Amino acid sequence: MAVHPFRHYFLSLLQVLPVMLWYLPLLFSTGIPSTFAAQLQPSHQPNLYFNPILPGWHPDPSCIQNRGLFFCVTSTFQAFPGLPVYISANLIEWKLASHAWNRDSQLPGLSWNTTGQANGMYAPTIRYRNGVYYVIVAYVRGDSRLGLLFKTTDPFDNASWEVPISIDLKDIDPDLFWDDDGKAYVATAGVSLQELDLESGSLGEAIPIWNGTGGAWPEGPHLYKKDGWYYLLIAEGGTSEKHSITIARAKTIQGPYTSNPSNPILTNRGTDEYFQSVGHGDLFQDAAGNWWGFCLAIRSGPAYAFMPMGREAVLFNATWSEEGWPVLQPVRGRMAGNSLPSSPLTVLGNGPAVDGNDRITFRDGVPVPPHFIHHRVPPPGTFVATKNGLYIQARRANLTGDQMSSDVELTGQHGLSFIGRRQSHTLFRFAVDLALRLRTDGQEAGISIFRSQNEHIDLSIIRRLNQTSNSSCGDLLFRLSGISPSTTIEERLVSVPKAWKNQPIRFEVEAYNASDYTFSVSQLDNARARIVIGKISSGAVSGRGGIGFFLGSMVGAFATCNGRGSGNKCKEGSEVFIQRWVYEGIGQEIANGEVIPTKD
Ligand SMILES: *[C@@H]1O[C@H](CO)[C@@H](O)[C@H](O)[C@H]1NC(C)=O
Ligand SMILES: *[C@@H]1O[C@H](CO)[C@@H](O)[C@H](O)[C@H]1NC(C)=O
Ligand SMILES: *[C@@H]1O[C@H](CO)[C@@H](O)[C@H](O)[C@H]1NC(C)=O
Ligand SMILES: *[C@@H]1O[C@H](CO)[C@@H](O)[C@H](O)[C@H]1NC(C)=O
Ligand SMILES: *[C@@H]1O[C@H](CO)[C@@H](O)[C@H](O)[C@H]1NC(C)=O
Ligand SMILES: *[C@@H]1O[C@H](CO)[C@@H](O)[C@H](O)[C@H]1NC(C)=O
Ligand SMILES: *[C@@H]1O[C@H](CO)[C@@H](O)[C@H](O)[C@H]1NC(C)=O
Ligand SMILES: *[C@@H]1O[C@H](CO)[C@@H](O)[C@H](O)[C@H]1NC(C)=O
Repeated sequence: MAVHPFRHYFLSLLQVLPVMLWYLPLLFSTGIPSTFAAQLQPSHQPNLYFNPILPGWHPDPSCIQNRGLFFCVTSTFQAFPGLPVYISANLIEWKLASHAWNRDSQLPGLSWNTTGQANGMYAPTIRYRNGVYYVIVAYVRGDSRLGLLFKTTDPFDNASWEVPISIDLKDIDPDLFWDDDGKAYVATAGVSLQELDLESGSLGEAIPIWNGTGGAWPEGPHLYKKDGWYYLLIAEGGTSEKHSITIARAKTIQGPYTSNPSNPILTNRGTDEYFQSVGHGDLFQDAAGNWWGFCLAIRSGPAYAFMPMGREAVLFNATWSEEGWPVLQPVRGRMAGNSLPSSPLTVLGNGPAVDGNDRITFRDGVPVPPHFIHHRVPPPGTFVATKNGLYIQARRANLTGDQMSSDVELTGQHGLSFIGRRQSHTLFRFAVDLALRLRTDGQEAGISIFRSQNEHIDLSIIRRLNQTSNSSCGDLLFRLSGISPSTTIEERLVSVPKAWKNQPIRFEVEAYNASDYTFSVSQLDNARARIVIGKISSGAVSGRGGIGFFLGSMVGAFATCNGRGSGNKCKEGSEVFIQRWVYEGIGQEIANGEVIPTKD
């Protein structure tokens, strides 16, 4: 295993400090480096970097550069908060700045009114114009799609993202493009083009502009103008093994568009590359004028067997041919020969790094970190920072929910008592210390690797009546269980040792290779006794054989009473507190069998 070479490519703090100090007042005065780009001359060095750049579940990336900073947004489906905006100054280190969708009042009730597991925020586009950042997206609900246009003048502050304007979209994957005359256009899957009134959200007549080159699902369009040409970049072939990027161009925005003879310009289909499903991208320039692109890929190899992280975002560079077509660098784990922008702005923002670790002691009343997400909007009061830890209010709906029930408190539609973060490393360790008291039959709390309500692996402690002994107070059991469309997960039950009762317990999952999760529990207060409960294949949460292919896995904690109680309340409440939460990346697989150890 080679040692991770990232540190050689970054300026040391000493080099950066003088520039930072000069720059500091600007940062605090505006939150956005409005005048900085003029001062900064990005130096370019031939660099090596490793994909994925936004590891973990980050499909359909759309990215821009403004004043030397790069901004990306990705699809989030039912996850809330949704539409994360990541910011970078060097294209390699990315921090979460805000979520465009960060409060229920932006779209009251919409999340709770969405049933499909893979519904929600699909394929956004981020653009900047005249001081305003725009994120346009289709919110998919069953067969309907609600267009939403989010705006902010400060992408570092999620509260400043406005209530989105609704748009009656013709199809999914809206793009946003301004022509030289200032008119705004939306292109959608298909591909068709419509003029957009940015104030009212009303659309003009739809003009079909390109069918693509014949691949399934011509979608994910993005328009650019360069040297008098309108370029239309799209995704084709479906988001699985035939995925690709193609491009066409025209002299007028309505077309006719001519396909690039070299299409597809980016794909890994028909190869045995570790990065598969390469497609659905966006192009942008850095401050020095070099072209780059982001797209999605799946780390699976052609077998598509172990891919718990789903579709991740990868970076490639672009050059232009003499005929005026972009040439895109093939997507691999190891990307060499690029000239990365180097910038002292790497320290910008105090949000968590996209590939960062968590070492959080909630015992001190620490609030929920901004990169923590849920499946649907959780009801108010579900997670409360207290001095005893992060309180989790148990819900009657368990992680699967009774999806056939007419009682929405049992389906999970009103939000689950689940709090998680993305699995963002092939190899990792995740441990949660829970202080809990389970009072009645059915109460349960623990950790989960969660992709959807139909696809998750859980390690918990449950109070359950033992039918054999018929003891009315119930037994405390460790339980490893789950549900998957592709893999049978046999429930494993282990009695909780007497000495462990009423003590905080550590629930832990470790991935020491790409295919196996090892689940264990330990007793914290007494000699760290540890019991390995079992191993389960990551193939169980890989989106195979179900509607989970678009999704990706989160690791997190949950509490439920498995239907007992009434309304949204569990019988006798619950006492579940997260005291400590540790997520540590160990390594990234970047090619078949090649793992890059993660630096701390
Ligand atoms: C929820 O869905 C129902 C039926 O589709 C619709 O009538 C209602 O307006 C929706 N409410 C919200 C907040 O979207
Ligand atoms: C797309 O294909 C349809 C059906 O073949 C055809 O009628 C239409 O003209 C095509 N659209 C464009 C923009 O090429
Ligand atoms: C990547 O960028 C470098 C210089 O910035 C260039 O020389 C190289 O050809 C590019 N690679 C591809 C495949 O476009
Ligand atoms: C929103 O931003 C505030 C600070 O600006 C932060 O405390 C909060 O955690 C953020 N929430 C999300 C969902 O990003
Ligand atoms: C249920 O109780 C019986 C008798 O006490 C015991 O043998 C058995 O192991 C218990 N089952 C579980 C799953 O704990
Ligand atoms: C369990 O206990 C209940 C009453 O508490 C009794 O009605 C039932 O028959 C018992 N079941 C068994 C299997 O002993
Ligand atoms: C992971 O390790 C297990 C043994 O612990 C082995 O059976 C399995 O094949 C390994 N998986 C991969 C993808 O190397
Ligand atoms: C989840 O809760 C439902 C009741 O809402 C229950 O029928 C089901 O058995 C529970 N699932 C598990 C795995 O406990």
